[in-house]
Amino acid sequence: MNSQYLPGDADRHSPNTSLRPVTFTVDEHNQPLVGGMNLVELAHAYGTPLYVLDEATLRASARAYKETLKAVYSGDSLPLYACKANMSMGLVKLMEQEGMGLDVVSGGEIYTAVQAGFPMERVLFNGNNKTYQELELAIHHGVGRISADNFHDLELINKIASAKGKKVNLLLRVTPGIECHTHDYIKTGHIDSKFGFDLSQLAAAVDMIQEQYKDTIVLKGLHAHIGSQIFETKPYEDLIEILLNIYYNIREQYSGLVLEDLDLGGGLGVTYTGQDDPPAVSAAVQRIVEKLVFYAKRLNYPLPRLLMEPGRSMVATAGMTLYTVGSMKDVPGLRKYVAVDGGMGDNIRPALYQAQYSALVATKVNAPVEETVTIVGKYCESGDILIKGLPVPCLESGDILAVFGTGAYNYTMSSNYNRFPRPATVLVENGHAHVLVQRETYDTIIQQDLIPAHLRKVSEPVPVPVP
Ligand SMILES: Cc1ncc(COP(=O)(O)O)c(C=O)c1O
Repeated sequence: MNSQYLPGDADRHSPNTSLRPVTFTVDEHNQPLVGGMNLVELAHAYGTPLYVLDEATLRASARAYKETLKAVYSGDSLPLYACKANMSMGLVKLMEQEGMGLDVVSGGEIYTAVQAGFPMERVLFNGNNKTYQELELAIHHGVGRISADNFHDLELINKIASAKGKKVNLLLRVTPGIECHTHDYIKTGHIDSKFGFDLSQLAAAVDMIQEQYKDTIVLKGLHAHIGSQIFETKPYEDLIEILLNIYYNIREQYSGLVLEDLDLGGGLGVTYTGQDDPPAVSAAVQRIVEKLVFYAKRLNYPLPRLLMEPGRSMVATAGMTLYTVGSMKDVPGLRKYVAVDGGMGDNIRPALYQAQYSALVATKVNAPVEETVTIVGKYCESGDILIKGLPVPCLESGDILAVFGTGAYNYTMSSNYNRFPRPATVLVENGHAHVLVQRETYDTIIQQDLIPAHLRKVSEPVPVPVP
């Protein structure tokens, strides 16, 4: 009998190529530890479900971007952490310490960054339908860049900037005709996407900025995001060619206008299961930079300030979710369901797009594998399945299951479906645990509810006539 799948040391090369946090280890008593903290003890101390984030992995990921860019790119650069992947004020402070910028997409994300005291000149505001209020908030707090998605954005930005007497540094988001689906990508003339300017609209947008909006907007560059969970650098290399060709043409057509920034978006993939094989962040960044330097030289174009927007590859591997095993149901000849005390409310990704995860029974790390089970949640949906076909030892109610790779798009996509409170997030480092996000309570659940006056009085029930 095999023991549970515990990924080997060989996959430790880079946080995004490993299944587990860099500090993950099993001690001499077969207790799994992350950040020097015993996972089973964490589950008991903070309750489950519990999001755990490993500080060392977060810092290693940030450094993989920052240090590689510094080492291989002679132009200016700034990686902007895409906050949609995971955000809390503590995490924002960690990104600040690591010298990262932020990519934000909503008033809520701007507000979180402001409240955390993040330097707003290192923030880029993205989004396909920014409201007047959100843009006003962004401009009021002096975000470093706004990426305009459409003409509506340009109009609003001009209006707000002129009312405030400010000039906004702007990127134009374009749909470059590259579409990535994890392992492969296609290049098409036209992409059916709600995001960004179609290339055919670009000239009109640049004209508008250079003529109508020249007092309120400074065009700094172009921005594109080609997809997520991408395992190859070729689509980014193609993107560089497409964008730099446009830069070249703009310089020709607008009397020497040189665009200073180039934003290649996010999307680099991570390892969720043994089947995933993304390039290490450092290798991918190096290849992207080589292409940029080569192509800029070929066009005799000055090296732009390189912006990237990594989300998943910064935080996915740093995160684990701890659950307690509850009920089980054996459907003879079909499968065994093992239910945990969370599910689609704290991790919607498997239900939303069949995302796959690996997990470990933290209470029985060294026990031999006895069976293969389906891990389900406790939400009222048959699709509330977290992991299909997980090999496990003999499970009992009360066992702690630790799911790997849940640092990205779990907490930020969580919900109160079925009125379950959202889990807490703890940050672990060097044998310490720090609460980043407190567990919600039943009071949190009802705190926004109001009962209108006319519903407060409940009339006496009308007696039902007895025949
Ligand atoms: C514009 C933009 N930038 C960055 C990201 C982050 O992508 P990832 O988490 O795949 O790195 C996204 C994800 O949707 C995005 O839409």
